[in-house]
Amino acid sequence: MNNLAKGGRTPVDVRRLTAFAARHYGQDPGRLRITVQELRGGLCASVMRARVRFLDPERRPRTAVFVIKRVAGGDIRELGAYRSLAGSPCARIAPQLLGAEQTRSGCVNLYLEYIPSFHPWPWADVKASELVLKRLATVHEALAPEKVPEWDYDAELQESAGTTLEILEEAALLADFTPVRRFLPSVRRLAAALPALRAQLVNRRWPRVALHGDAHTGNAIIRRQGRSHSAVLLDWSRIRLGSALEDVCSWLQSISFWEPEPKRRHDTLFRKYLTSRGMPDELTPELRELYWLAGASNAFAGALRYHVVRMGSAATRAERTMASAAVRDWLRILARADACWS
Ligand SMILES: Nc1ncnc2c1ncn2[C@@H]1O[C@H](COP(=O)(O)OP(=O)(O)O)[C@@H](O)[C@H]1O
Ligand SMILES: [Mg+2]
Repeated sequence: MNNLAKGGRTPVDVRRLTAFAARHYGQDPGRLRITVQELRGGLCASVMRARVRFLDPERRPRTAVFVIKRVAGGDIRELGAYRSLAGSPCARIAPQLLGAEQTRSGCVNLYLEYIPSFHPWPWADVKASELVLKRLATVHEALAPEKVPEWDYDAELQESAGTTLEILEEAALLADFTPVRRFLPSVRRLAAALPALRAQLVNRRWPRVALHGDAHTGNAIIRRQGRSHSAVLLDWSRIRLGSALEDVCSWLQSISFWEPEPKRRHDTLFRKYLTSRGMPDELTPELRELYWLAGASNAFAGALRYHVVRMGSAATRAERTMASAAVRDWLRILARADACWS
C-alpha cells in the first residue's frame, strides 16, 4: 500500500517520489509505504525527509530514509555542486546525491542521503566548530576551482548590497531603528566600494578557491562515525569561487551569534582553521583586515537584510530582540570593515 503523509504546507509530488523510491530500492511501487516530513531550518527551498518501508527479497522489513530537496532558478547550481563533490576528495563532506530529476515547472528535485545528527544542537561545544572548520579547509584545499558551477556572484552581490542599503535607509527612518542611523555612512561607503573591496579580498596568499558559500549552523550536521564524530556540510546552493575567508567568517559569525563559548574562543577557532590549511597560525593585522572585508561582503549577501526585515516584522518581543542583536552585529562588522577600508 502506498501510504503518503503530507508534510506541513509543502505539497509532495507523490507520484514522482514513489517512482524514485521504487527505482532506487528496486521495489514494486505498490509495495512501498512512504511517509514524508518537512525538515525545519531551511529558508527557501522545500526540504523533506521521506521514510520508506518495504520487504526485502527475504521478506524482512526494511526502512530507508532519504531527503528530497526541490530547488529552482539559480539554486539549481546545487545539483552541479553535488555532481562535482561526488568525484572529488570532498565526497564525504556532503550528503551523497542519490538521484535528481527535473519537474514540469522547471524545478529540480534532488534526492539526497539523509544525515542523522548525533545531537539536535551540537554547537555549544567548540569541538563541533573545529570539525566544521576542518571540513571547510578541505573544501578550500581540495575542491578544484574548475569544478565549481559558474555564477556571476559579484553582479548578484552588488544588486543585493543596493537592496540592503535601500531597506536599511527606509528602516532608519523608524523610531525602533534609531541605533542603526549612525552606521549608515559606513554602509553607504562600503556598498559603493564593494567591487574594489571584493578585488582586495583575493590576493597571492588568499587566492580564489572553491567555497561552500553559506556556512552557518543550519547548513552543517555533526554525525557520529564509530567512536568519533565528523561534520557534513549541507545546502551547496551558494557554492562559488572566492576568498576562503568568506566561509571562515561566515561560520565564525554564525556560531558566535548563537553560542557564548565558541564566541569567546573565536581567535582560537580561527587559528585552528589556519592550522588545518597548513598555514602559519598568526592572526596578523593584515589577516584581520581581510577577515572583516570578507565579513562585510557576507553582510551584503543577504544576512543583514534578512535580519532588518525580521526586526521590522517580528511577531514577538523575543524575536525582535534576536533580530536586532543580529542587525547590530552585522553593522559592527561593516563598521570594522569600513575602518580597514578607508
Ligand atoms: N541530507 C540531509 N540530511 C539531514 N538533514 C537535512 C539534509 N538536508 C537538509 N536537511 C535539513 O533540512 C534543513 C534545510 O535544508 P537546506 O538544504 O539547508 O535548505 P535551504 O536551502 O532551504 O536552507 C537543514 O537545515 C537540515 O536541518
Ligand atoms: Mg540551508
